[in-house]
Amino acid sequence: MSQSKHYNAYKEFQDHMNILGRRYELSRVFDDFLSLAICSFHRTNIQSKLTQKDATNEELYHSIINKYDQKAIDLFPKLLGALQLSVYNEPYSDLLGDYFTEHITRGQNGQFFTPQPICELMSRINACDITQGKRVYDPSCGSGRTLLSFAKHAPDNYFFGNDVSSTCAKMTTLNFFLNGLRGEVAWMNTLSLEWYNAWQVNCQGIGILPVPKENSILYQEKPHTKNHKRHNKEQLTLF
Ligand SMILES: C[S@@+](CC[C@H](N)C(=O)[O-])C[C@H]1O[C@@H](n2cnc3c(N)ncnc32)[C@H](O)[C@@H]1O
Repeated sequence: MSQSKHYNAYKEFQDHMNILGRRYELSRVFDDFLSLAICSFHRTNIQSKLTQKDATNEELYHSIINKYDQKAIDLFPKLLGALQLSVYNEPYSDLLGDYFTEHITRGQNGQFFTPQPICELMSRINACDITQGKRVYDPSCGSGRTLLSFAKHAPDNYFFGNDVSSTCAKMTTLNFFLNGLRGEVAWMNTLSLEWYNAWQVNCQGIGILPVPKENSILYQEKPHTKNHKRHNKEQLTLF
């Protein structure tokens, strides 16, 4: 993958965001874009090829999109197109994390993501092509880039990420979906175990499914509590 291809998709994404950011608050637009994209890839939409709709998902989608005028609404698919192009050009790359780091976060909660070459080094040390069917976990996943790097070398595993920031959890969810990873992302505090939301990705078929606490693997199995022992042998933790 050439640097210019990555730059082109990133620049296109950035240009559309700049236009939206002149009229709406930039971090709000970014977070809304993530929510809208996750709604679009809801498992019901994907599996029924849009012949059926999930009522709760539709309600959420409309509550977000109704805040914008038509000119802005027309830019959201273009943002998604640029994001998809970046994955097509360079699978397992992290346009969302790059944009978030450059334009959105001010480093709150330690939101400084691991540089790609370090992710690559760590995943080469931890992963090999015989690593299969394991749980791979980042308890403070950011945009999910350590997990993406692992998946590049060993995709046939189950990927799990938590983050206390809903924006980060949503970036990871989209990154999982667009790269065909299977697993779950929870918006939760990994230390206090306060749980807010979770999304299962490409489980029981392609698509994203928001799950309640009682169905959240990450909440129910709490990898760092006493249940941890049960899965210790099959779980790799990246952090
Ligand atoms: C240094 S970044 C690392 C992100 C990612 N693991 C990486 O290597 O690129 C730390 C992340 O931890 C998250 N975080 C901070 N406190 C947390 C907590 N108590 N529970 C879950 N996530 C937390 C932040 O929102 C941030 O995304």
